[in-house]
Amino acid sequence: MTTISVDTLRAWLDEQQPVTILDVRLQQDAAEWCIPGSIHVDAYEALKAHDPAALSGVELPTDQPVVTVCGVGRTSQIAAEQLQARGVQALSLEGGMQAWSLAWNTAEVPLDDRSARVIQVRRTGKGCLSYLIGAGEEAFVIDASLDPRVYLDLARSLGWQITSVFDTHIHADHLSRSRQLAERCGAMLFLPDQHRVSFPFTTIRDGDTLTTPHLMLTALRTPGHTPESTCYLLNHALLLTGDTLFPSSIGRPDLHATEEQARERAGALYHSLHKLLALPAETLVLSGHTSTPVPFDGVPLASTLGEIDEQVGLLHATRATFVQMTLARIPPTPPNSQRIVKFNEAGVLPESDLTGLEAGANRCAIS
Ligand SMILES: [Fe+2]
Repeated sequence: MTTISVDTLRAWLDEQQPVTILDVRLQQDAAEWCIPGSIHVDAYEALKAHDPAALSGVELPTDQPVVTVCGVGRTSQIAAEQLQARGVQALSLEGGMQAWSLAWNTAEVPLDDRSARVIQVRRTGKGCLSYLIGAGEEAFVIDASLDPRVYLDLARSLGWQITSVFDTHIHADHLSRSRQLAERCGAMLFLPDQHRVSFPFTTIRDGDTLTTPHLMLTALRTPGHTPESTCYLLNHALLLTGDTLFPSSIGRPDLHATEEQARERAGALYHSLHKLLALPAETLVLSGHTSTPVPFDGVPLASTLGEIDEQVGLLHATRATFVQMTLARIPPTPPNSQRIVKFNEAGVLPESDLTGLEAGANRCAIS
């Protein structure tokens, strides 16, 4: 065996199996996104030139496998072969970082109320965070970004049936899997009120509340990142913010917008964020993305509203300053965002090259 699949490496990391991950991409690519715990070696050009000394200076453990990683799994194969010739137990990651985009791990969010459980499903290869929320025999999913079987298997293992699926907004940086998930398990599909998507869904409006014996989910319309962006307050304790508010930043208002629309959205975002800040400071915020690879550590990514209020200086600006500073700090547009929006508005997934379309780090936040 000279290669390893994403699923196997994901399982090894999840089980804390000893493995060394050697990233052989160019420095700038490794700096943008990587596998948590990987070691980078600047050998890409030498490997591509088949220089037999490309990895000669790299010291590696001999008592555990070494997984070599590149962009799509070709240069890493050369690296693995060179290491094998040295007696190292080396495997090349099939499909490289592009395939790793679909890797995920989970962390449970601790709750005072033990009647409900919240599992943060982290797509570590891309930075998307989704949520499986269960109580009794029922579960909700928010912002599904992975294959439906991931959520179905997790729910089954916890004794839950997924009955409701929600998106916080029409995403521009990844393909939503919510429609496919809802269809697979016969769940209701809830989307914020808008006229963008062309498939059937159940509309959720500001203040709408969905209740089960142990779960109460209330929608809070928070336009800004997109016009329809909506946060969900769970059991008065957790706030699922999508791309509106992050632990140390705020959502960008410019995707799929003209310059003037981005200015209007930035103003709307200011009011939305202050609406959220009116909730109790101990409310735990669970956002829809993270801008760094998520370790396999089981530690949820979450902050209280109070902590975020202290951390994010923009929240203390006047409206005019907020709008001006937000627009001045907009990061580069994520690759393929226009095409991703089109797929999400149509509710379909591309028939091929799904990870190629989603390639690139998340750039949803302004800090
Ligand atoms: Fe977004």
